[in-house]
Amino acid sequence: MATAVVTGAASGIGLACARLLAREGWHVVGLDVNGNVGDVLGEKLCTSSRVRSAPCDVTDEVAVETVIPDLLKGWPMLAGLVNCAGLARDIPMMDTDAGLFRQIMDVNVVGTFTVIRTCVPHMGDGGAIVNMSSVAGLRGSKGRLAYGASKAAVVNMTQVMAMELAPRDIRVNAIAPGPVETAMIQKMHSDADRRRYTGRMFMKRYARPREIAEVAYFLLSDRSSFITGEVIAADGGFLAAGLMAGDG
Ligand SMILES: NC(=O)c1ccc[n+]([C@@H]2O[C@H](COP(=O)([O-])OP(=O)(O)OC[C@H]3O[C@@H](n4cnc5c(N)ncnc54)[C@H](O)[C@@H]3O)[C@@H](O)[C@H]2O)c1
Repeated sequence: MATAVVTGAASGIGLACARLLAREGWHVVGLDVNGNVGDVLGEKLCTSSRVRSAPCDVTDEVAVETVIPDLLKGWPMLAGLVNCAGLARDIPMMDTDAGLFRQIMDVNVVGTFTVIRTCVPHMGDGGAIVNMSSVAGLRGSKGRLAYGASKAAVVNMTQVMAMELAPRDIRVNAIAPGPVETAMIQKMHSDADRRRYTGRMFMKRYARPREIAEVAYFLLSDRSSFITGEVIAADGGFLAAGLMAGDG
């Protein structure tokens, strides 16, 4: 029996991770800035005695440092953390002001860091941390100046943390998803965007949130016991694509 913290647990990939972990017998602490996180998790997970949740903004350091220890009280040792809370914008560089840039960095980078820094002291005998990067953090993508920079920072932060936490037997890895069918993408991708993405992917479709949750689950489990500081792309072939069969 072990406990996992999942941020961004009210929607998309975070919700899929919380569901999968609960189904596999983990105790799950779900956090989200969305005040309905309790209803969403309570409603969608039938294992409510092993699920606790609270509204929590990962950019609010005081809230993070209060809420997480509070929710962990009396539960099995914390052994897993999945950082899914994230903010994305599709906006050209010249329309990106410093305020928006800071906001995206604050949620995706500083928020991820703050949650990890709060959780690590509760991981007694080792554990595993999974951060959500993105293919946009590994390649220059249209409209992804701030978002891409934040997701590239998540990769580097993952590597440094993996090094610093290895002596404590804590592994830290990242996932770089391609497009995943979630609320974030439904808001952001037009039909033209969808054609552009699938045109660059061997698998010609968007991922389901569950497909990313399965990778996170593998990285939390002992099955990945020698993997740390790594970024695993789950992108239907997006990063591997060059000249595609059928092009032109
Ligand atoms: N969907 C994709 O195509 C895709 C691709 C690559 C990476 N990602 C990354 O995966 C993660 C999850 O994305 P998703 O697609 O499930 O998005 P989503 O919008 O469905 O879910 C994100 C959740 O994070 C929460 N959140 C946002 N800001 C927060 C904050 N300050 N504090 C706490 N919670 C906050 C939101 O309320 C939401 O419930 C994000 O980091 C995203 O950047 C998504």
